[in-house]
Amino acid sequence: MQDTLILAIESSCDETAAAVIKSGRTVLSNVINSQIEIHKRYGGVVPEIASRCHTEAIGTVVDEALKTAGVTLNDLTAIAVTYGPGLVGALLVGVSFAKALSMATKLPLIALHHIRGHIMANFIAHPELEPPFVCLVASGGHSHIVHVKDYTEFEVLGRTCDDAAGEAYDKVARVLGLGYPGGPLIDKLAREGNPEAVHLPRVTMDNPYDFSFSGVKTAVINYLHKLEQNGESYNKADIAASFQQAVVEVLTVHTFHAAKTVGAKKIALAGGVASNSALRASFEAAAKKQKMEFFVPPPVLCTDNAAMIGCAAHFAYLKGETADLSLNAVPSLPL
Ligand code: KG4
Ligand code: ZN
Repeated sequence: MQDTLILAIESSCDETAAAVIKSGRTVLSNVINSQIEIHKRYGGVVPEIASRCHTEAIGTVVDEALKTAGVTLNDLTAIAVTYGPGLVGALLVGVSFAKALSMATKLPLIALHHIRGHIMANFIAHPELEPPFVCLVASGGHSHIVHVKDYTEFEVLGRTCDDAAGEAYDKVARVLGLGYPGGPLIDKLAREGNPEAVHLPRVTMDNPYDFSFSGVKTAVINYLHKLEQNGESYNKADIAASFQQAVVEVLTVHTFHAAKTVGAKKIALAGGVASNSALRASFEAAAKKQKMEFFVPPPVLCTDNAAMIGCAAHFAYLKGETADLSLNAVPSLPL
């Protein structure tokens, strides 16, 4: 296989990230400048602030990625960037920076889909992993079951019809007064609670691989309002554990159902929610039961990062998938 050295840039949401990746699977640097501390004050990502922070950080982040990797622009094969989906103002910072670098260096430009990147984090974490496999991508913006047929060929088997799993975690954490981002806080608190304490709905859609998380979120909110109106106290850990159980159960059942239907022998997790301890344990147990191999990246590659974009870019480059300087950000780019 052809060797490549790719500088990748990711700025679709609230992380300004740059990485240098060798031949798709070796991470020479992976720099992530998170804006979480800034957005925390507002209880969620404020798009305008995210764009400004990206603009301030991107030059330093890219410099640091090159320096840490011990390479210069002259050593590179290509420049890669996430061009969607995401916040348009945030995406535009990465896209404009990558286009300018590509124009100045005359290096090829590679445009990547953010979810495709999340999936590829598994190839970095597991050098032996090869397609095909089925991957659940669960993050703050997406919940997709994807059939990864080849390194550059993907079929979406199911998706959320309303909230993403991470979005539901963040909203439930907010009503419980836990803070932002809610996923890791609920994950931690749920360990002290009883997952059977509150019965919450498990929604099934017409397509058995699709998801709906707005119902479970609303059920938690209604449950809390009722108790508050009656002046009754409640145990936050029990609610966190019951909510988590409901979400993890649906994510696991639908993904393994989809995997069985397409005859997959391997199953993987990706995206910010893939850091969730209960989800990882549930997938591991289900895979063992169904004699399937299970893959999941370490948390640093589950959250938004540019290493995953560099990996996706390597395989795109080998296929000749390059972009030109007319490239624009596409906030609702389909996979
Ligand atoms: O992939 P990501 O970093 O950004 C997006 O592309 O959205 O995912 C962020 C999401 C947030 O909603 C966050 O609450 C959730 O991932 N998350 C978790 C955990 N860690 C992060 N959700 C559940 N359990 C966790 N441990
Ligand atoms: Zn993401």
